[in-house]
Parts: sequence; structure tokens; C-alpha cells
Amino acid sequence: MNHFELEGGELHCEGVALSAIAEAVGTPVYVYSSATLERHYTVLRDALVDAGLGQPLIAYAVKANSNVAVLRTLGKLGAGADTVSIGEIKRALAAGIPARRIVFSGVGKTEAELAFALDVGVGEINVESEPEMHLASKVAQARGTRATIAIRVNPDVSAGGHAKISTGKSENKFGVSFSEAERLYAQASNNAGLKPVGVTCHIGSQITDLAPLEEAFVKMRGLVQRLRTEGLSVERLDLGGGLGVPYFNMPTPATPADYAAMIARTMKGLDVEFAFEPGRMIAANAGILLSRVQHIHERPEGRKFAVLDAAMNDLIRPAMYDAYHDIRPVKPRPGPLVTYDVVGPICETGDTFTRDRDLPRLEAGDLVAFMSAGAYGAVMSSEYNSRLLVPEVLVKGDEYAVVRPRPTYEDMLDRERTPPWQL
Ligand code: LLP
Repeated sequence: MNHFELEGGELHCEGVALSAIAEAVGTPVYVYSSATLERHYTVLRDALVDAGLGQPLIAYAVKANSNVAVLRTLGKLGAGADTVSIGEIKRALAAGIPARRIVFSGVGKTEAELAFALDVGVGEINVESEPEMHLASKVAQARGTRATIAIRVNPDVSAGGHAKISTGKSENKFGVSFSEAERLYAQASNNAGLKPVGVTCHIGSQITDLAPLEEAFVKMRGLVQRLRTEGLSVERLDLGGGLGVPYFNMPTPATPADYAAMIARTMKGLDVEFAFEPGRMIAANAGILLSRVQHIHERPEGRKFAVLDAAMNDLIRPAMYDAYHDIRPVKPRPGPLVTYDVVGPICETGDTFTRDRDLPRLEAGDLVAFMSAGAYGAVMSSEYNSRLLVPEVLVKGDEYAVVRPRPTYEDMLDRERTPPWQL
């Protein structure tokens, strides 16, 4: 459930009319619902707890939506943060998430990033390769400390979904094989700069079927048992993120309760602390991109283009992953549906959100909402075509606040410098 509903013929976010936000802030603009973020987090947490998985660390994947107000909303409920850069660690800390609840992931952590992570005391560094493990050890020893690490395993399973977001096959760049993990874990246990506490995996994103996750998790359980048989201590098992969300035109994904039950079944009797790194399932349906129709451009042969003021620089998922986003007019007109190509104003054909979509009739000036845009929306936006970075608004009940204002053109130009020979 999300909190974007029609009320009196007009789409609202919780108690706020989207037209009021468009009026005050302008379009395009991302709008997030606090109640939906809170609900998604608590439904997942309760499902995991009720399934008997203890009090797991739910390290929200900051990459999905990194606005500090969003992080603070989740942090207040007890969420940790899964981060992949110094910038994301700084955001999580700025949101008040304690360092011990921060996980630091990513395939190419630099020496400076590892040093920063150790200095602020992140709870777990997920190492993805042997060279990275040695670098973590070197950086930790130089600081007279030990890096608390988990080894990321690549379980070599096909998760389905879009190739650009699949991570769990051995041909992908992520993690090490099971045999390497055993060797590295043993090595780490004898290394003065490392404290191995667990193992981790993440096989991809937008996974709607539990079977590939289960296949990976059964293998992870086997790994924990083998490591323990070798006399190594394994306290944590981080099962990554990846559970998909309904983007409207697709089979209903597994629910958090199904997911939790599957984990409880596969991990029965294994005494570990569980950690999770969900991003999309928390944030996607908690946000929309609100845009205005510039005009309807009709070709003589009949094709109708709804040209919006939002473009691929504001929401790149359709162009990049052929992603489907439901598009809802904020004040839907009654009457027969009309077929549109919905496009942005950028000068390339890739700036097409969808083709041949049946929608209530649109006119210039209408507002439309791209649904399920709260994850991997604003975070992937850019200033391509020198369009200003899209602003973000957070709603709570009857209130809303601009949590990232639209920059000005002066802000944009002020970031650049004239080389001395042009002065
Ligand atoms: N943990 C790790 C190590 C990850 O690489 C990811 C996502 C997550 C957790 C969170 O996965 P989620 O629960 O959100 O599926 N930009 C793409 C998605 C890229 C996901 C990358 N990794 C999109 O718009 O679909």
C-alpha cells in the first residue's frame, strides 16, 4: 500500500493535494510519502521478526534514495544504512544513523574511503575481493585497529530481471566464489588488521520470484556451516537486498512475509545475526515524479505525443532499463482512454518514457505523476541539457517540506571556473 490516492477526483500524497505542491514548488518535482516509507520499513521488520529471525539489522540501501530527510525518517525507526561511498556514509551520519548500523559495500573502495569508514567506525565493511581485503587490512593496521569485515560471495545464480541490475552470476564483477570465500575468511582470521564477522551476498535488484534468492541463501547457509566446521567464528549473515516491487504491469512480487518465511525455512537452526540491505522495496512506491504536460503534439498519421516538462535527466529508468512506470493524471478526465507516447523535451529519442500508453485524455497544463519513482529516481538525475537538478519534497500527513530545493541557474553556473587563459 502507498499513500498516493484520489480524493475528490484529485491525486493526493497523504493529506496534501499534488496540485498544491506543483503550484508552490513548480514541476518537475519528486514527492515522497513519509507514511509509505514508514509502512514499508515496519512491514518488512515485523515480517522478519515474526518469522523468528531475531532482531535483524535492516540496513536501508542509501543508493535507492539518499535524501537525508528520507534517511532520517527510516533511521528514527531503527534502520541502518547500506552505503557505497564516503558521500553515502556522510549522508547516513547526517541523518543520525549510528555508525555501528552502517554497512560499507561496493567493489572498488579506495584507500581514502576505507580510512574514512574506519575513522567513523562503520559497523561492517563488506569486502568484495582479495586485493580489497588486503587494502582494508593495511589501512586498519596503519590506524592500529582492525577492520570488521564480511566477505561478499557471488553465489553464481541467475536472478532474472534486467541484465544491467543482475549481480549474482560469476561473470559479474561482484564478490568472490565460495571456495575463495573460505580461503579468504581463514586468512582474515589470522590477520592483525582484520576481524571477519560474517559473509554477505546480493544477487540483483527487482527480483520478484523467491526461487533464485532461496537458491543463493541455501548456498550461503552451507558456507556458514563449512566455515564453522573449520573452527572459524561466523556471527553475521547479510543477505543483501533485491526484493522487487510491483511496477503495475507485472506479476505481483513475493511479499515481505513470503520472503521472511522462506529465509526462516532455509536458515532453520543456524544461529546467526541476520542483516538485510533493502532499497527499492522501501522507497520505490513511496515516491512519485510530478510533471506537467507542455503540449500534445499530434502527427498527421495519428500518433500523439504528450510532451512533458520532465525528461530522462530527471527519471532515467525507462531510457536505461526499459523500465515501466505507471503514469497517472493528477486530475483524471472521465471518458475513453487515448493512446499516447509520453516523452520529455530532451533532444534524443531515448527521452521517451513510454510508447503507446492508454491514458485518460490529456491537455496542455495537466499534471501527471510517474508512480513508483521513489527509488533510483532523484538519485540518478542529472543536469543533462543544462536542465536544473530536480527538487524533492517530503510529505507527512497534511504537511510538506522541500527537502532539496531546485537550484538556480546562477547556482549551476557558479560551480564552473574560467581557465586563466580565457580571462
Ligand atoms: N545491496 C547491494 C550490495 C546492492 O548492490 C544493491 C543494489 C542493494 C543492496 C539494494 O538493492 P534493492 O533492494 O534496491 O534491489 N538503478 C537500478 C537498480 C540498481 C541496484 C544496484 N544495487 C534501477 O533503477 O533499477
